[in-house]
Amino acid sequence: MTGFEKSTLSLFSSGGLGDLAVRQAGFDILVSNELLKDRHEVFHNNFPQVSCISGDIWEKLDEIEAETRRRLNGKSLGLLYATPPCQGMSKNGRGKLLNAIRAGKKPPLDLRNRLIIPTMELAKRLRPEVIILENVPEMASTFIQDSSEEPINIVDYIRKALGPDYAGCAEKVEFADYGVPQRRQRLISVFSRNAELKAWLAIGGSFLPQPTHSCGGEGGTLPWVTVREALKGLPELDAKSRDTATSEVPFHRVPVLDSMKYWWVKHTPPGCGAFDNQCIACGYSENPAHKASRGANGINKASLMTPLFCQECGEMLPRPSVERDGNRVLMKGFTSAYRRMVFDKPASALTRNLSYACSDKKLHPVQNRVLSLQEAFRVHSLDHYNFNWLRQDGKQVSDKTIREIIGESIPPFGFQVILEHITDILNGKHHPESNAGPLFCT
Ligand SMILES: C[S@@+](CC[C@H](N)C(=O)[O-])C[C@H]1O[C@@H](n2cnc3c(N)ncnc32)[C@H](O)[C@@H]1O
Repeated sequence: MTGFEKSTLSLFSSGGLGDLAVRQAGFDILVSNELLKDRHEVFHNNFPQVSCISGDIWEKLDEIEAETRRRLNGKSLGLLYATPPCQGMSKNGRGKLLNAIRAGKKPPLDLRNRLIIPTMELAKRLRPEVIILENVPEMASTFIQDSSEEPINIVDYIRKALGPDYAGCAEKVEFADYGVPQRRQRLISVFSRNAELKAWLAIGGSFLPQPTHSCGGEGGTLPWVTVREALKGLPELDAKSRDTATSEVPFHRVPVLDSMKYWWVKHTPPGCGAFDNQCIACGYSENPAHKASRGANGINKASLMTPLFCQECGEMLPRPSVERDGNRVLMKGFTSAYRRMVFDKPASALTRNLSYACSDKKLHPVQNRVLSLQEAFRVHSLDHYNFNWLRQDGKQVSDKTIREIIGESIPPFGFQVILEHITDILNGKHHPESNAGPLFCT
């Protein structure tokens, strides 16, 4: 039995994928808030014991506080788990942001988008023992405007809002390092007023456990789990027709590609992108590949010089193209579009566009299609959990909602490993060998 409270308030819960890890690590989620109803219905179906307060956190602050207090029944809150989205954050430095706002080049940030503010308001009201925030790695160097309209680094804002009772730290995590077949980096910030956690911080301890996996299996770790291992055992699919694009396995189906797109994908070799495809008419294989370079503004720009027609025989190459003024021209696109994943590496981060062949590295390593949702579940470590995608009326949510929930969440299995490490620290089981250095410490 642990000596700290496990009661949890979950904010920005979406469908609850992160909450799967929270629950599995032994926390008891009492209350959840999420803006979007369809996502929250999925959450509610999977966490029926939780009081779900749907709607805008700004409007629901008092209700969230009251319901949490009611469920706590006099006890104190153990964990506040919050994953606010990143709108309203700016990666520009403080001076740059202020100058841009003063010069009228940037409007003052919309208060409603600064979702860390209501999050901290609830933290101040409920004073949880531990606060865990999860966001994009850029959050550490992000500025927001607080109520005084002065830009402030977001981690400084959190520290200021919580006051001296709390100590905390933000650390960058690579989920592939914890056995997830996906490269995905996030920033996990942990703030606490718990004596054990503060003592752990004071000796420079990390909230991240030792990685269990690494790229090549260095230092006694296992090699990263690959796409090949994740997709093992599923029937082949082909995006050519409805018949070949579906299977008996639930969610193991893919969108049918129109004949032109299918032609590009079909001729894309393993590990390559369709923009580099070579001539299938004469076999010439030296047509220039699609290149990208950084423009003066530092933003990647795809080459406009990439040929669409074979330099040897003049036939059209199976490269992404569009019709313009009666001519076929190369489609505007980055080198990562219409690109295959690699079998022997983890997948790149799953996004809400995971079913679109034109999006970054979304093609199956060898089959002519994108990943199925069933495969995305595995790549996102959902196969470790019981989870259903049903609305309150028992109907399944749309594929779009499923993609959005996955694309905006972290792989729960990796998060669970981290949470178990944190509960070990809370239980006084320090891990002096843990040496993953904090990115930013307060
Ligand atoms: C990064 S996602 C959360 C991911 C989630 N924790 C998970 O594990 O799947 C952020 C969520 O915040 C929700 N959100 C955005 N604005 C909100 C608001 N004003 N009030 C409450 N929730 C909001 C979004 O709808 C989205 O589902």
